[in-house]
Amino acid sequence: MTDLAMDQTLENVSASGLDDVVSAHTALSMVDGAAGELVIAGLPVEKLAEKVGFEGAAARLWAAAGMANVPDEAVLCRRLGQARLAAAAHLDGLMAVTERLSVIEGLRAGISLLADSDETLLPQERLLGAMPVFLAALCRQKAGQRWIGPDAGLGTAEDFLRMLNGAKPSEAARKGLDAYLVTVSDHGMNASTFTARVVASTRAGMISAVVAAICALKGPLHGGAPGPVLDMLDEIGGDQGIAPWLKGTLEKGERLMGFGHRVYKVRDPRAEVFNAAVARLAPESERLQFARKVEEATLAALRAAKPDRVIETNMEYYTAILLEALGLPREAFTGVFAMGRTAGWTAHIIEQERVGRLIRPQSIYVGPLLDG
Ligand code: ACO
Repeated sequence: MTDLAMDQTLENVSASGLDDVVSAHTALSMVDGAAGELVIAGLPVEKLAEKVGFEGAAARLWAAAGMANVPDEAVLCRRLGQARLAAAAHLDGLMAVTERLSVIEGLRAGISLLADSDETLLPQERLLGAMPVFLAALCRQKAGQRWIGPDAGLGTAEDFLRMLNGAKPSEAARKGLDAYLVTVSDHGMNASTFTARVVASTRAGMISAVVAAICALKGPLHGGAPGPVLDMLDEIGGDQGIAPWLKGTLEKGERLMGFGHRVYKVRDPRAEVFNAAVARLAPESERLQFARKVEEATLAALRAAKPDRVIETNMEYYTAILLEALGLPREAFTGVFAMGRTAGWTAHIIEQERVGRLIRPQSIYVGPLLDG
């Protein structure tokens, strides 16, 4: 093979991003990128968020994955309360090693502390219980505050906000976070879910698969975007700053956070769910008005700069505005996403474990064949 042919082969292989590869058959969610539709556990995402809370969505996903004897929403709520109490036993040990880590690095460390086996609670329950407990404590540590223990009688969203802020949240905040967690609970074969399935296929166990998924999620091209969305809005400053900031950033070849998606070629349907949720939660929000102006200008600038590409708003843009309106600190955003997506990750792991076959794709060697 000539050097040029080799370079081209290498470029094709590494640039493909596996776009057209179907890696699983799943009963968990369907993403229609052309129509902008998302179905989770059989229901359009907007309907699912109206019909059930986060625990109900997790139960539906686990049932769809083939788990036997899935508890109903109320029973699962109680079991997750027990799981949060069990997770709190790790907090002093975790806080001793996370002082110099970011919140998402601390969450990655915390989930690694969970044992593969436990006699009373299932790994998926322990994971869903541990996420809010660890995340709230890590955020409080960053703010120089001691952790607050769980209240096993509350639901996940309400208890997380209570452990984070030290006070019972308003009903609007509880509902807003709950709807967010349901909406992000699953999304086809995204990078972190694929990672979880690869690890699960080696039979390494659910805890290890979720640690790996967190590692994939934390990158800015996946779940790490919403914090930078707010940084971007802060940097733009006000109406006068929008056009020059966009021009300068695109000229430098930088990516605009909260825009573009591998699958959606129209606006991400979740962006609209979150846009509407912020409008309900904080109708007078100046941030929301400004974000809408920046969105409009950004889409126009992207169309002008990349006329042959379809780049629309993705869910991370309004995630940032919603989570900020809920009073969450920026450094918590990726962790809150992980908390919601754990429902989907664990369901995919159950589904993958039922398939039972090691995921082991091929690669094409494009290096030289040397003599001796
Ligand atoms: N800003 C500027 N240019 C962009 C953007 C963007 N946000 N997104 C894509 N492009 C451009 C690329 O520079 C590239 O242009 P080129 O061909 O002229 O070099 C072209 O569009 C295609 O980009 P790819 O990276 O091939 O598209 P891909 O499908 O891999 O991108 C991704 C998807 C990674 C999400 C990308 O749009 C991006 O980086 N967005 C910003 C980060 C972000 O918002 N991440 C959250 C994603 S949502 C989620 O994970 C839940």
